Amino acid sequence: MSKITPLHQNVKLLLTVTSDNHIDHKHPIPALPMYWLTQSVKDSAKSAHTVDAYISVGDVTSRGSEKNWTMAQRCFSKAVPAKQIFLTVGNHDLWADESYEAAEERYLRHSNRICKTEHTKTWFSHTVNGYKLIFLGNTKDAGCEAHLGEDQIRWLNEELDAAAGAPAFVFCHQSLNGRHGLPRTWDRDESATDPMEGGIGTESDEVAAILKAHKNVFYISGHSHMGLCGEKRKAAEGYASFEEEDGVTLVNLPSLACGNHHGDDRAMGVGMVIEVYEDKVAIRPRNFAHRSMNRKVAIKDGKPYWEQAIR
Ligand SMILES: [Fe+2]
Repeated sequence: MSKITPLHQNVKLLLTVTSDNHIDHKHPIPALPMYWLTQSVKDSAKSAHTVDAYISVGDVTSRGSEKNWTMAQRCFSKAVPAKQIFLTVGNHDLWADESYEAAEERYLRHSNRICKTEHTKTWFSHTVNGYKLIFLGNTKDAGCEAHLGEDQIRWLNEELDAAAGAPAFVFCHQSLNGRHGLPRTWDRDESATDPMEGGIGTESDEVAAILKAHKNVFYISGHSHMGLCGEKRKAAEGYASFEEEDGVTLVNLPSLACGNHHGDDRAMGVGMVIEVYEDKVAIRPRNFAHRSMNRKVAIKDGKPYWEQAIR
């Protein structure tokens, strides 16, 4: 057990990131997902260096009900994990018994309360310590996929233009289609046959083209509940949690609290620590419940984390 400690001196931005927390009052043991989320919040709060933002990449709840959001809020009230909290919206957060609109209203109301923000849309950006954090979100019910719409896609391009080549982090619940082993890795049975399954959907190529047109872009997703997959799996099976494509770094997070499949490490409680330095970015898997950095899965060049120079 050890505190989150940056890899190098003079870290300029420090983020803790988890995904797919799936708080659910209908879970056979509702306290379990709450435990994993609370552990990540407490571990982040005890970091040796102040964390600038704690970020969820979506599916904070298994269903966007009042009850589930209240339970999630309780987890976030146990400690102060960072200077700021941001909650990306996930498909499960937008599912409710009444309507999409009711679920979106509840996501906005509760996430604004937890994050102390005043967002009026599921998509927004913040500049923290000079770095763009861009959060994509649905504009209508799209089932398991995302639907961003023209306005948001145009805005994404403008936001990345404004980053002017500095590292920029795009958080979207769904990965681009066909990355990280999708659709094969979408479920345990590998039953998916539609190439779009498990991905962002029909806007994937358009979003990918915008990401690739900019320098030092990091696209962070969750959604598939694939465990942590390293470089050996990439060599053997063709997919991994960390992938690079035309200069864009693609990172897929394991589910923090809802079980994982296809991984070299399928444990719950796993997320990432993102560290930005003057000349490089490090992204390090961490088990927030065990309070330890990944040691068992080689991510890049034999090291248990991803590190790259800023281009
Ligand atoms: Fe999920």
